Amino acid sequence: MLAIIGAMDEEIELLLADLQGREDLGFPGVTLHRGVLDGVDVLLTRGGIGKVNAAMTTTQLLNAGATQVIFTGVAGGVHPELRVGDIVVSTDCVQHDVDVTALGYAVGTVPGEAPAWAADPELRAVALASAQVIPNVRVVEGRVASGDQFIASPEGAARLLGTFGAACAEMEGAAVAQVCAKAGVPFVVIRSVSDTADGGAQVDYREFMPRVARHAKTVVRGMLARLSTAP
Ligand code: ADE
Repeated sequence: MLAIIGAMDEEIELLLADLQGREDLGFPGVTLHRGVLDGVDVLLTRGGIGKVNAAMTTTQLLNAGATQVIFTGVAGGVHPELRVGDIVVSTDCVQHDVDVTALGYAVGTVPGEAPAWAADPELRAVALASAQVIPNVRVVEGRVASGDQFIASPEGAARLLGTFGAACAEMEGAAVAQVCAKAGVPFVVIRSVSDTADGGAQVDYREFMPRVARHAKTVVRGMLARLSTAP
């Protein structure tokens, strides 16, 4: 079963409206919506903001039978060519706010864990193909940097680019990735750029968030169409 997670209501309501045969499943801390979207059996949910919510939600999705996970939402663009409305498809995810450097670990590395979690090549390819058909939108494949912080300064954005080679900043992807990697479940993160993480962010974010959430939704619908016809 394919699972689709969005962090906020704006990110999933557009998909929820079209879910056929909807059944709401109550799990501790999260409601999962099961149904059929574009001919594909899906579990759809709003996971909440931040890494803890994302990890909890992903765990419940896996318990409910998810075998592939798509995370969709908005992000702050860090890659210099990204503008509001553009799209990032994850190559891999890192946790930029993890710092165990005092014990000799590279910044971002959780002791005992991989330094980054790679997205599934097949889901990436389907996401890319679906994003590339949206007019006037640049699509960047790149690293998603997650942390429990809204990045809103030129220094913050430059750090993520310089230290991690990140394409975008958000607050959930790497937590989803870490849980999926432990379970051997493929994932991809698709982010539509709502701001450029540099301090004009709050203004851009509130103005553009609903509009760019629609881009992420379009990518997910395109993925469903492709996955439902895949041999
Ligand atoms: N989500 C959208 N914009 C963001 C930013 N600048 N930092 C973190 N998460 C975000």
